[in-house]
Amino acid sequence: MALSARAIYEEIRSNDETFRLFCSIAAKGEAQGGWENARIAELTGDRELAAKIVRHGTDEDKHGRIFLSLLRKRGLEPIAVPADADYCILLERAGIGLSHARLAEDRPLTDEELLAYLVHSRVTEQRAAEEVELQRKLFADDPELGKVIRTIAADEENHLAYCHEELLRMVERGHGARARAMLRHYAQVEIRAYRDVSLAVMRNMGEILGWSRAKRGVLAFGIRAIYQIERLFTWRRMTTLREPARKNALGAHAPLRA
Ligand SMILES: [Fe+2]
Ligand SMILES: [Fe+2]
Repeated sequence: MALSARAIYEEIRSNDETFRLFCSIAAKGEAQGGWENARIAELTGDRELAAKIVRHGTDEDKHGRIFLSLLRKRGLEPIAVPADADYCILLERAGIGLSHARLAEDRPLTDEELLAYLVHSRVTEQRAAEEVELQRKLFADDPELGKVIRTIAADEENHLAYCHEELLRMVERGHGARARAMLRHYAQVEIRAYRDVSLAVMRNMGEILGWSRAKRGVLAFGIRAIYQIERLFTWRRMTTLREPARKNALGAHAPLRA
């Protein structure tokens, strides 16, 4: 029974059905991020910040297209993402970030709502950066995936740097206590949603690949163990704010990659 992250990713990748599910989930999440950022930019009065939010959305849209092109190269079409494996929807249902209903309105965002957007991004970009960093290591030498994953990893690092920087700006403007409370709350919600999505994705993959009960049991145990570690200790990594090494990562002077 092969249970390392590398073995699981390889198994998912070598089966058309699971590869299709994996890329569809990834593409949907990225496209969702693209749409949300584009809309949030339209509702943001600060022109300089709005330009960075547009750039953030453009990157996420590009990532969505990368996953779709991986599917197309294998002659596969995307499929609908199972509701329980939809990370964005689970987070929205848990009440963090800005809801679809809110984004459908035309009122400009308040400071509190801008803060909600930035904290949501801080927490979810941390997760994205860590996930893609793992994939970057696993597929470093892969001729098909290596390069695209390096591109996405560099972007996610930029997004995270941008979140730190903009949130520190909000702290300077007197929103420190609110930002810290929100960061704690959002991190707790995110680690639960991440556990639930991981269990759902694992269940779906296991069904397609015919994993034994023992294998499913061990993987589910692992996901729950990670959740406990995050809940007790490592959630704090999502809530810290520090001046990033990469300054103005999404600013006007930052080069746009193809
Ligand atoms: Fe992304
Ligand atoms: Fe991102």
